[in-house]
Amino acid sequence: MYTMDQNQQPLVDVLQRHSASGAISFHVPGHKQGVVRGSLSIEWEALLAYDATEITGLDDLHAPSGPILKSQQLLSSYYHSLESYFLVGGSTSGNLAMILATCQTDDVVLVQRNAHQSIFHALELAGARPVLLAPTMDKSTGKPVGIAVETLLEATNAYPQAKTLILTTPNYYGMVSAAMDELIQQAKARSLTVLVDEAHGVHFALGAPFPTSALAYGADVVVQSTHKMLPSLTMGAYLHVHERSHISRGHMGRFLRKVQTSSPSYLIMASLDAARHFLATLSAHDVDRICKSVTRFKRELSTIPGLTLGCPDERIIMDPLKLLLSVEGVPGTSFQSALEKEGIFPELVDDEDVLFIFGLAPITPMEQTDWRGAIQRAVNSVRGLQRLSGGNKSLQVPIPNVSAFSMSYHALRAYKETSVPVTAAEGWIAAESVVPYPPGIPLIARGERITTAHLEKLQQLIDLHAHFQGNHDVKDVGLLVFTKD
Ligand SMILES: Cc1ncc(COP(=O)(O)O)c(C=O)c1O
Repeated sequence: MYTMDQNQQPLVDVLQRHSASGAISFHVPGHKQGVVRGSLSIEWEALLAYDATEITGLDDLHAPSGPILKSQQLLSSYYHSLESYFLVGGSTSGNLAMILATCQTDDVVLVQRNAHQSIFHALELAGARPVLLAPTMDKSTGKPVGIAVETLLEATNAYPQAKTLILTTPNYYGMVSAAMDELIQQAKARSLTVLVDEAHGVHFALGAPFPTSALAYGADVVVQSTHKMLPSLTMGAYLHVHERSHISRGHMGRFLRKVQTSSPSYLIMASLDAARHFLATLSAHDVDRICKSVTRFKRELSTIPGLTLGCPDERIIMDPLKLLLSVEGVPGTSFQSALEKEGIFPELVDDEDVLFIFGLAPITPMEQTDWRGAIQRAVNSVRGLQRLSGGNKSLQVPIPNVSAFSMSYHALRAYKETSVPVTAAEGWIAAESVVPYPPGIPLIARGERITTAHLEKLQQLIDLHAHFQGNHDVKDVGLLVFTKD
């Protein structure tokens, strides 16, 4: 099935051999393999012993020819890609590189409106001309998921010169649209280069019951945060180029070199090697045990009075390792605090829900840890609390299916950024995105011209005490806009 034996971890092995060899360091880093520790206690020594650098035998991420090359080849073999890369700056660095490597100045690029900020940063750096596509909403949970095929066709009809489509899938909640396959086929049929931020889907390579990776559907480049779902260190991520992509071998590497450090962490890189090994050597039996334990956990929680388990509608494929929980009528933040008092820390909280993320190991059985009791106590302590606002879910933020910017990022560089009161913002070009959360879709994106419809909606959201991402104090500080002087 794989072209290489996955039961190897070349980078982990070479680092372990090096640290055990007693080699004397007259090179960086300054901790000298854990000898010079400053205020760090002796426990750190074991870790620092592996925090190496590009000395003989340890290879070089930016020009690999030894164990790093072999580890990346194993990764590529596992993901069936043309080539795969280790990233030490998270999906953020992968998103920057994939866009800078494929988008030229003034290229029209179709981009999912609720993309991560790194996607917009990269488009701005590339000087591309984004056309924003509104995501579809899951009616049951109120979360944005994927792009409708009709929205893509509307955009390609209006902008036939578009060269690239940038998708974000799964969403933060582990949801993938069932139309993803068709969406990518339609984009490929129109000769679009498909770039996918799959930050939350590195484990989809395991196959069912996990959703299918966009790489299997033919996306040209896919970026995944290894640290989010696999046992790798924070900042670890992968970038894959599809085996039939028009993007040539080595092209991405040249751009990764521009956006990543010249001193990549060997701890992160070794953890990336180990994470691929972990995934590739998980048996069907292991996956079955993990999924059964998650199902048992969810079944137990479903018996707690007042607790609701989020369940998207049937047009969505849900990652079994994610779980949305809410208590009817209670702000997500109150439920989060109650859970934290019980020592349970969720990944994310929004207006109504908290999100639990499970790891790729069976959950400690209920008999050993009283999860149910702790969660029930948290639910009981918040039941009856009143929601502060009606919740953004019901606010129906009106987003056009397809919208382009009236000026290029390049032209906007000649402008200054100034705050104006909301009441005076009409007609200006926004210098910052305004993102009501949830649903986490920009109502106004940086670069978009502010319209009356935007401002009416914004006022309504302010009146309802809606939350804006990034602690955006729209009401008192106003909106940042581009001005000439
Ligand atoms: C969809 C999405 N893309 C990209 C990122 C950035 O990932 P990283 O933290 O690995 O740089 C995130 C972070 O949460 C994300 O949610």
